[in-house]
Amino acid sequence: MAAFLDQGWPAFISADAVAAQYLPSVRERFADLELLVVDGDRYVGAGWAVPIVWDGSAGSLPEGYSDSLRRSVTEETAHTPNTLVVCAAQIDQAEQGRGIAADLLRAFREQAVARGLEYLIVPLRPTLKHRYPLTAIADYAAWIRADGAPFDPWLRTHWRMGARVLATAAQSQTMTGTIAEWEDWTGMTLPDAGDYIIPGGLAPLRIDDNGNGTYVEPNIWVQHPLDTPAH
Ligand SMILES: CC(C)(COP(=O)(O)OP(=O)(O)OC[C@H]1O[C@@H](n2cnc3c(N)ncnc32)[C@H](O)[C@@H]1OP(=O)(O)O)[C@@H](O)C(=O)NCCC(=O)NCCS
Repeated sequence: MAAFLDQGWPAFISADAVAAQYLPSVRERFADLELLVVDGDRYVGAGWAVPIVWDGSAGSLPEGYSDSLRRSVTEETAHTPNTLVVCAAQIDQAEQGRGIAADLLRAFREQAVARGLEYLIVPLRPTLKHRYPLTAIADYAAWIRADGAPFDPWLRTHWRMGARVLATAAQSQTMTGTIAEWEDWTGMTLPDAGDYIIPGGLAPLRIDDNGNGTYVEPNIWVQHPLDTPAH
């Protein structure tokens, strides 16, 4: 599962210190929320989720992906979770575009219902945002096509399943590193302090005067309905 989920991400994706802190506990505690999609004898998709406590209001959402991990681990023992947060979904590159991700999301909905949870939410990483790194995430999330569907293909998959945008997560993950690390992760030379557009980045990378780089990844919060049958 780990090997499958490691494919195809920008190298900087694992430079998030908060996620790195909580991921080992998440893996250990919530292994039963890791799902694999199997086609014959091949794995074609995978995803995992964490349970949190949430009151259903946009104002009390986690800050994003990393904060969801933190909340799942730190709040779990104090309160009974009522919300499933789908933190990762990945489909084999050769199988993308066939609707397998919707099958995976349906399976998470079923898990949420089976566990008696109230809500299912996703801090999704919009798949075409990297082509528009200068656009604010709130503007990007609101872009729609002429047919009324969301502009972003991954957002569209959720939207077709009846999910709706709840809010944007401007600071879903924060990745930090030295210039040397960022040069390694991006394959770019970064000669000076300033902002850089980096491959796979949903927003620019900022290099400061002390030689450190910070990249803040924005995501979009969507909520899936649980009370209506998935279709
Ligand atoms: C995002 C992802 C899970 C979607 O899975 P999927 O099974 O391909 O989803 P769908 O079949 O519903 O396709 C969704 C849309 O993306 C489009 N799409 C999928 N793969 C594509 C590709 N390689 N190139 C261009 N468009 C693609 C589909 O055509 C569809 O758009 P449509 O509404 O115009 O039909 C998958 O692309 C993936 O694993 N990406 C890499 C990891 C990632 O970004 N995960 C999301 C993090 S939350």
